Amino acid sequence: MDGIIEAAEKLALKEIETYNFPSLISFEISNKKGLELAKKLNADIFIVQLGTRLMDLKLGQAISEKRSKEHVKMSSDSAKEFLSKYDIDENMKIKIINCIEAHHKDVPFICKEAEIVANADCYRFLTPKGFLSSLVGYVKNGKTFEEALNQAESKVDEKAAIVSLEIVKKELDSHCIQIKKFIKEAKELV
Ligand SMILES: [Fe+2]
Repeated sequence: MDGIIEAAEKLALKEIETYNFPSLISFEISNKKGLELAKKLNADIFIVQLGTRLMDLKLGQAISEKRSKEHVKMSSDSAKEFLSKYDIDENMKIKIINCIEAHHKDVPFICKEAEIVANADCYRFLTPKGFLSSLVGYVKNGKTFEEALNQAESKVDEKAAIVSLEIVKKELDSHCIQIKKFIKEAKELV
């Protein structure tokens, strides 16, 4: 299975370059945190690394076509096609696809790797770096400051509801409170 993670990364980076979304910072945050959590929780590192690289594979395209809600299905279909080129155990493939399909909690986690990937995704919005980079990303993609702030806030709320792992809660809860306060004040004060 040599080179699959690198190939998945290359594919995801090509999409990011084509559609200018999500940001490289977001991509790196979830890859880094996914790997860190997988090691800490003795999960399958290979599955998690593919999961974080492929979960939003088609997010940029979906946004550009104004169908962002479909990005999970689009990413899953594209990942299935990508994985079909490799000789990977069927059970492992099912888990990798679950990492993608469950990262917004649309379907239940069937393995701890999928829960790790969904939690790693939360760092893209619930850390100062992740939050600010997502805000900048929305502005770069043409949103006004107010629209970007509202969108980033709704992502903060959405992701706060997805955090489920204790070690992630411990790390993100205080950031989340700070970010929510920061947004509230940004809306009230000039
Ligand atoms: Fe996503």
